[in-house]
Amino acid sequence: MIEEPSGAQSVTVAVPAKINLSLGVGPLREDGFHALATVYQAIGLYDEVTVRGAEASTLTVISPDGDVPAVPSDPSNLAMRAAAALAEHHSVPDGVAMTLRKRIPVAGGMAGGSADAAAALVACDALWGTRTPTEDLMRIAASIGSDVPFCLVGGTAIGTGRGEQVTAAMTRGRYWWVVALADGGLSTPAVYAEFDRLHEGRPVPEPEVPDELMAALRSGDAALLGKALSNDLQPAATSLRPEIAALLEFGMQGSAHGALVSGSGPTCLFLAGSEDHAGQVRDWLADAGTRVLVAPAPVPGARVIR
Ligand code: C5P
Repeated sequence: MIEEPSGAQSVTVAVPAKINLSLGVGPLREDGFHALATVYQAIGLYDEVTVRGAEASTLTVISPDGDVPAVPSDPSNLAMRAAAALAEHHSVPDGVAMTLRKRIPVAGGMAGGSADAAAALVACDALWGTRTPTEDLMRIAASIGSDVPFCLVGGTAIGTGRGEQVTAAMTRGRYWWVVALADGGLSTPAVYAEFDRLHEGRPVPEPEVPDELMAALRSGDAALLGKALSNDLQPAATSLRPEIAALLEFGMQGSAHGALVSGSGPTCLFLAGSEDHAGQVRDWLADAGTRVLVAPAPVPGARVIR
């Protein structure tokens, strides 16, 4: 915790974006969610969440490039809801003045909103000194969103249930992801609805994590991992944004080991085996006019940095 000139104390937490190396989507459940079997990975592209004690809760959203991102800045924001849920759990009467510094693409399929919620939980827990046991924190995280528990732990992990049940995965090696940013986001519920439409009249099998993906992760071989990537939401995201298909194919022509849509999209991911290789893939895409970022993986989940 740091003491500010005003005497107020603040805590800043950095939280990475998530991607799904495989996203197996099963039948629609009665609660409106789909059964998932997914392999999450946290990548080195971070939002930062700062909290300070305040009488009334406020939220400020800042983008490093000066734009105001399309993030709700009212109490419906996932990070504000997370802070309120933790306050209620501990009967903390205080509000928080929260600042989000957004680098994770908004509505891009990289769990930016969920990441901010995970960061808010860690930040408020430190600010209030509430020392919430991990089990309770994971349960509160799951009540905010399916991806929030993974954003707390990071690394590489298997997600089941609706994605909220997280188990660390055995992996070796370091990977490099070239992240191709799209203009405009996609709504996650809209992509799941399109998945349902595309499967209408056909039974959807229970989802599974592919064995070849787990074997590739244990080997640490990026070329093997590239061949094992899969995303059941990709046809739905491509149906809503047809230009995604051409971008994935173009990226593969530029030497990437593998390519897929990130989560519900529209961000696309290209896998490289080293930082140099990632630079080549990045240049290939950037020369064709695509906005790209490079991020290493896996990285740990939400952490206090100041
Ligand atoms: O859990 P989260 O709030 O991130 O989910 C957002 C929306 O995505 C849900 O309301 C639902 O429409 C869809 N979803 C789903 N199945 C999941 C996760 C999310 O249908 N396992």
